[in-house]
Amino acid sequence: MYDGKLVSLRALELSDLDAIEEHWNNWELRRTIGVPLPGSRRDWLEIASKADPWKDGELNLAIVEKTTGEFLGTIGLRDIALPHRRAEFGISIHDPKNRSKGYGTDATLVMLWIGFHLLGLQTIYLDTFPDNEEAHRAYVKAGFKEVGLLRNTEFREGEFRDLLIMDIVRAEFFESYPPGSTVDQS
Ligand SMILES: CC(C)(COP(=O)(O)OP(=O)(O)OC[C@H]1O[C@@H](n2cnc3c(N)ncnc32)[C@H](O)[C@@H]1OP(=O)(O)O)[C@@H](O)C(=O)NCCC(=O)NCCS
Repeated sequence: MYDGKLVSLRALELSDLDAIEEHWNNWELRRTIGVPLPGSRRDWLEIASKADPWKDGELNLAIVEKTTGEFLGTIGLRDIALPHRRAEFGISIHDPKNRSKGYGTDATLVMLWIGFHLLGLQTIYLDTFPDNEEAHRAYVKAGFKEVGLLRNTEFREGEFRDLLIMDIVRAEFFESYPPGSTVDQS
């Protein structure tokens, strides 16, 4: 269990599957993220079992409200590349009513803390649709910087669209969260 100011990140449990299925396959959510096709409970069991970053190259966790334990969403690092100490970041706050309340930024900071302080990563990067302003704002607040655009690279909703690449390197994160610090106590 890793704490931010508003959320905690913990292992995904079987008991999360109902909450995940409630919103995960809503088009409103799927159209914003990397995989637009539906995902079943079986898919999520597989995702949840990928929790050993060194063996699986992935770490997938649940985001829960810190005081109530309410399930809020999922967050992960994937394509963890040991020789390069690099990983790709992804996040979803599943229920729209829980967005724009600061949960996403806080969860991102905790995942960055895990990536840089526990896994020893050097770079964490992401891609996002340039018009996803809520995501962009949350990523900037967490310290990600824009790297550039991959042009016409993602076929979505009938057209090839650009993806905005953002990243943060360990030295930048350590300016705000040096060794010995935690996100909840910053
Ligand atoms: C992206 C996501 C994880 C961000 O989490 P969140 O909890 O909503 O983010 P936060 O509340 O921490 O920050 C969102 C910021 O965007 C702002 N925002 C919301 N809508 C906005 C808009 N249309 N234009 C500009 N800013 C907007 C909010 O006001 C807030 O900024 P502020 O704190 O300065 O006021 C979440 O919205 C989400 O899961 N969205 C659907 C899935 C998704 O897009 N995943 C990311 C794919 S790359």
